[in-house]
This record gives sequence, structure tokens and C-alpha cells, in this order.
Amino acid sequence: PAPARLATPPMGWNHWNKFRCQIDEGIVREIADAMVSTGLRDAGYQYVNVDDCWQAAARDTDGRLTSDPVTFPSGMAALADYVHARGLKFGIYTAVGEKSCEGRPASGGHYAQDAATFADWGVDYVKLDWCGATGDPHALTSEFRASLDSTGRSMALGVSRHGSPWLWPDRPADLWRTSADIDDEWHSMLRNAQEEAGLSGAAGAGKGWNDPDMLQIGNGKMSPVEYRAHFSLWAVLAAPLLMGNDLRRMDPETLSILANREVIAVDQDPLGVPGERLRTNGGEEVWARPLAGGDVAVVLFNRGPHSTEIRTSAHEIGLRPAHGYRLRDLWTGQEGTTPGSISADVPPHGAALFRVTPNAHGPAWPTLSAEA
Ligand code: GLA
Repeated sequence: PAPARLATPPMGWNHWNKFRCQIDEGIVREIADAMVSTGLRDAGYQYVNVDDCWQAAARDTDGRLTSDPVTFPSGMAALADYVHARGLKFGIYTAVGEKSCEGRPASGGHYAQDAATFADWGVDYVKLDWCGATGDPHALTSEFRASLDSTGRSMALGVSRHGSPWLWPDRPADLWRTSADIDDEWHSMLRNAQEEAGLSGAAGAGKGWNDPDMLQIGNGKMSPVEYRAHFSLWAVLAAPLLMGNDLRRMDPETLSILANREVIAVDQDPLGVPGERLRTNGGEEVWARPLAGGDVAVVLFNRGPHSTEIRTSAHEIGLRPAHGYRLRDLWTGQEGTTPGSISADVPPHGAALFRVTPNAHGPAWPTLSAEA
């Protein structure tokens, strides 16, 4: 079968940012339940992904990967079933070499066997890490992809940044990391966003997705303003939206960020063209992303320590000439119109996110129905 190709960036949850190796099957089941009860599944989140530390210390007597008997005693097939029964998809972690980053058994020397095991278990998504492996990243990723495909089960493949997968002419992976691991810390989030500048052309529908790493929203060490900037940037970058917090205990503000359907719609826009940084100076940045139907999403981003007014224009962000534009602030829901200039007062470490729509109907505005 043809390799799985994700038409839009994957959305879901991964345990690593919050739980590291303190993870077990009970937590994963409760997270799947929470994804449903909070409405996050219905907002578009699909994958429940187990990261490193699910594996037993050794392969079983048939050489198969097997789950940690203490923390995942029911096994990964049962966990996948539990997740699928809730209308969600199941993801798992392994690595290119013989060991995972935490020293557990990984897939080196066992690609075909592990792909078959994952298919048996009902895995939908594989995160294939690097962790000091040796060899050519492109060749190894291609071999792993071929192993997944030969199972006949469609599985998405996410890889690390080793070998700069965004430069490969063919795309054996569906997404690839572009930076170091994200921490729940402003400078870490900022660094990962900045490292995407200049890479937008490498990604998109039919190619695969740049991955500035999983979300830290709700993990507590950044402010709500900073978390909204984090989500705004990831949406305009067409980044995977893999939540990294404890969905069982979310404050309303965290949920309102993660469940903002208009921001999610920017991330999941069907045109599938990632946004780009257009300008950076003195801590003020303008990022924009073309959307299906001729709209453009724009982020006015303030990296600096003081509130500032950031300005751009319809022309700068690539909108076609029109008799004015409708502006919708995707965080406040406020609407306005402009002949062409776009600006906002942006707090320190904040971002304003607008969807801008050219007026196709002449100078008079059509009646707009309120959007939910
Ligand atoms: C690497 C990856 C992380 C996480 C850990 C697990 O550091 O980049 O995302 O998967 O390994 O050990």
C-alpha cells in the first residue's frame, strides 16, 4: 500500500512532557477518557501516544518487543483497544538503534518484526527516535517506513531531526522534528519556534510536517499569555498539535486555549501550506500563513519585555488586493474591518492572532453570521 500521508498535521496527546518515565497504563486510559469528556476529541484531537518507557527491559523469548510488566501489565494491544473504543487512535514510541533514549529496547536490527508487532497491536502512529544511533538517517528511516508499509496497516511515522529530514527529496516520514526537546519554559518554546523560520517551504500537504515539538500548554511554568503565543505560533507553522499536559486536571484557561476551534482550524487548514516569519526586528515579529479560500492568518508576536504596538498590512502578509478586509481576532472573537493596515497592542511575550478575509463582494460588507 501507499505510505500513510497525513493531509493535515497530526493532533493528539503524548505523555512525555508531563510524565517522562512516571507513566503507566492507568494514566493513559484516564487521559483517553479525559480527551473525550473535555470535548478535546470533538475539537479534533485524535492520537493518544505513549512515548519512551513503555517497554520491558528485554524482548520476549520470540524476540518481540513487550510492555513493562509492572507499569503496562495488560499489554499494548489491550491499551490500543481501549483507546480505539473511544474513537481515538493509538501511538507508540521506538528508536532507530538498539536502545531508546531511556535505555529500553528499541528497534535496531528488528524493523520488520517490530512493524509487524505494532500492526498486530493496532498501532496508528509510530514515533521513531534517534538517540545516538549510528548509520544514515535517511536510509534507516526509509527502511523503517518500508517495514511499516509491508504490514498493510496504515501507520503515521514521526522522526527526529537527525539527517535534516526536511531536506530529503523523498519523504519517508510524515513529520520530523526540527529542533531540540521543548521545555515548559519561555526561551525553549521561543527557540523551537525561531528554528522554524525559513523552513516553511520544506513542509506541507503531500510533503509532511515540520515538528517544533510537543505542546507545553498547561504544564504550569509559562503564563497564559505565553501559552497563547505558543499555540498561535504552532497553528501558523502548521505544526503537529500534540498536547503534553495532564488532561485529567486542566484549569479552564488551559482548556480554552487547547480547545480554541478557530485556532485549530488555522493549524488544520486544508490548503496545507505552513506559515513563515516575514519580519523580525527589536523583538517584534510578523508571521503569516496562507489559508484555503484566500484568507491569511497572521501572528503579531512580541518577544520583548514591554507592551508594544505591532503593525503589518494586507500587502505584507500576501493578501490579494480587495475592497477592504475583515479581521477576526481568534483569541477574543472581536471583529473589525480595515482598508489594509493591521495592528494590535501586544503584551510582553504575547501574540495576537487574526484571520484576515479579503472582501470579495465590493465595498459593502455582507451580513456575517456569528461564528461559534
Ligand atoms: C528524546 C525525544 C523526546 C522523548 C525522549 C524520550 O529526547 O526527543 O521527545 O521522546 O527522547 O526518551
